[in-house]
Amino acid sequence: MRVAVLKETAARERRVAISPATAQKLIQQKHEVVVECDAGVAAFYPDQEYQDVGAAIAPSAAEACAGATVVCKVQPPELAQVDLLPQGCVLISLLAPHRSAALLDALALRKVSALALELVPRTTKAQSMDVLSSQATVAGYQAVLLGAARLGRFLPMLTTAAGTITPGKVFVLGAGVAGLQAIATAKRLGAVVSAFDVRPAVKEQVMSLGATFVEAEARAEGAGGYAKELSEDEQARVLEAIAKHIKGVDLVIATAAIPGKPAPRLVTRSMVESMRPGSTILDVAAETGGNCELTVGGEDVVHHGVTIMGPLNLASTLPNHASFMFSRNIQSLFDHAVKDGQFQVDPADAIVGPITVTHAGVVR
Ligand code: NAI
Repeated sequence: MRVAVLKETAARERRVAISPATAQKLIQQKHEVVVECDAGVAAFYPDQEYQDVGAAIAPSAAEACAGATVVCKVQPPELAQVDLLPQGCVLISLLAPHRSAALLDALALRKVSALALELVPRTTKAQSMDVLSSQATVAGYQAVLLGAARLGRFLPMLTTAAGTITPGKVFVLGAGVAGLQAIATAKRLGAVVSAFDVRPAVKEQVMSLGATFVEAEARAEGAGGYAKELSEDEQARVLEAIAKHIKGVDLVIATAAIPGKPAPRLVTRSMVESMRPGSTILDVAAETGGNCELTVGGEDVVHHGVTIMGPLNLASTLPNHASFMFSRNIQSLFDHAVKDGQFQVDPADAIVGPITVTHAGVVR
């Protein structure tokens, strides 16, 4: 097959879908890899690294796409790019399928088989293809580093000739993939870490990382191991428990999410006002509205001396390893779906089926 790798055009996007290591693997499997010029530069993968493993560099997206069997991207293509995709090719990318009706129509019209990576099932077999997990790992790590850098205080305990510093307190809201990585990262920095989640199974995972679990009488486990929305009563109990705990916290990492819904509101204005000046809330959920009432997506807000950071696309701020992991996820998808040298878009397949959003001219 001829596999094309396009340069990302979205604002703030520094990742690339295929790393030189994956390009090499595909080439060893007798595929041809064509990379749009500078596609990997923002992720610190210069064109030369792709050339060194045998990939070709194309001067434009149009030339990279010409004759391609499979086209790989991180973010959904722009509508205007759809005409560059060869009819009948396979597109592998994040596609935000529930928000991209016009794009899906255009892809179907072009007879592209579009595979939406955010729909990869959260099953053991598909774990190595799960970009939501790999990119949430990056986001959880970066959230702690960016938040810690804003604090104006140390996180670890230090005993020095200039006095003893007590360890900082980090509180993680939502202990899914990003939250657990945030806990581990904060622990490595020496903080005293606590966490809260509404899924009962999480308590043990939180404690196994050396953090304490904040109790609130609320359980909200939905389908597929995900959380669901809380009842009014439960929400009140949760807010009460968080309000009590948050006062003494230096850094809050908020990652609570419910698939397909706005982020649950867990930190109110009055909670922010109860925190010490200089404390910081890093809202990883900013993308879907934020866990904190005062979060503004893409901005840092200061309220009563507390900084509320609402970064967007956190994974892209660590582009080299985020791309490495994203690319390995795609490589695993190839390993799963390529048979006899061709990518099989089989709607009956347990992994390829659920992620195929357009195929044979139809939006599925
Ligand atoms: P997510 O990004 O959808 O949500 C993040 C966390 O927020 C979750 O732990 C959720 O329980 C929590 N949350 C939701 N509402 C909340 C509230 N009101 N208060 C506090 N916390 C709240 O979750 P993510 O990281 O995508 O993981 C979801 C589940 O999928 C987990 O059980 C994870 O272990 C599982 N999973 C399974 C995989 C596999 O088997 N291949 C791969 C990745 C995740």
